[in-house]
Amino acid sequence: METKDIYEPPFDCTKCPRLRNFRNSIKIEYPSWYNKPVRSFGSISSKKLIVGLAPGKKGANRTGRPFTGDGAGETLFKSLIRNNLAKGLYNIDGFDNLKLINCRITNIVKCVPPKNKPKANEIKNCSFYLKKEIVNMKNLKKILALGRDAFNSILNFYGLSKTQNSFSHNKKVFLPDSKILIGSYHCSRYNTNTKRLTDKMFEEVIKELKC
Ligand code: URA
Repeated sequence: METKDIYEPPFDCTKCPRLRNFRNSIKIEYPSWYNKPVRSFGSISSKKLIVGLAPGKKGANRTGRPFTGDGAGETLFKSLIRNNLAKGLYNIDGFDNLKLINCRITNIVKCVPPKNKPKANEIKNCSFYLKKEIVNMKNLKKILALGRDAFNSILNFYGLSKTQNSFSHNKKVFLPDSKILIGSYHCSRYNTNTKRLTDKMFEEVIKELKC
């Protein structure tokens, strides 16, 4: 089973009016793009979950697959393939045979936000889907959160304090149900271009996820 559609927002989701309006405005400009809430990628039976922020306008919102088509995806998928967490060829339009291996990718917000920045209420509105996803991943052992917002969303799910579990790169938190949360700087083009996140740093967290 790839996706439990019942735990994904409807394609015409109206929970976040700002995001709905943004989506609709892109639809007018680029009618051939996906332009809908982006569903998770990879099997629900996986042991690992990678949690991103939200679809990029010209990336996942264009192609319909998380991280596919933008700079962040280039870094993420290359590293997953190198570490046998994915196989096949990655293509920026998503027309490829890429398969994740025991690993699933989701976003804390399923719709593209203006300027890549969802608001707190939008993260809260979409948290229903993240919660359902975690509860339904019966084999889940490790969660890799890309960026502070994703990291804090997982802490929220477990009712853990943000001050006692502050976000940093390669931070590990032992969760109450024995799963492990790993924090990473987001693999956005901005972070990789400024060297806030180097290839070596990212490789370290992917190896943590893998082992
Ligand atoms: N694309 C996604 O799907 N999520 C991100 O967090 C960034 C790019």
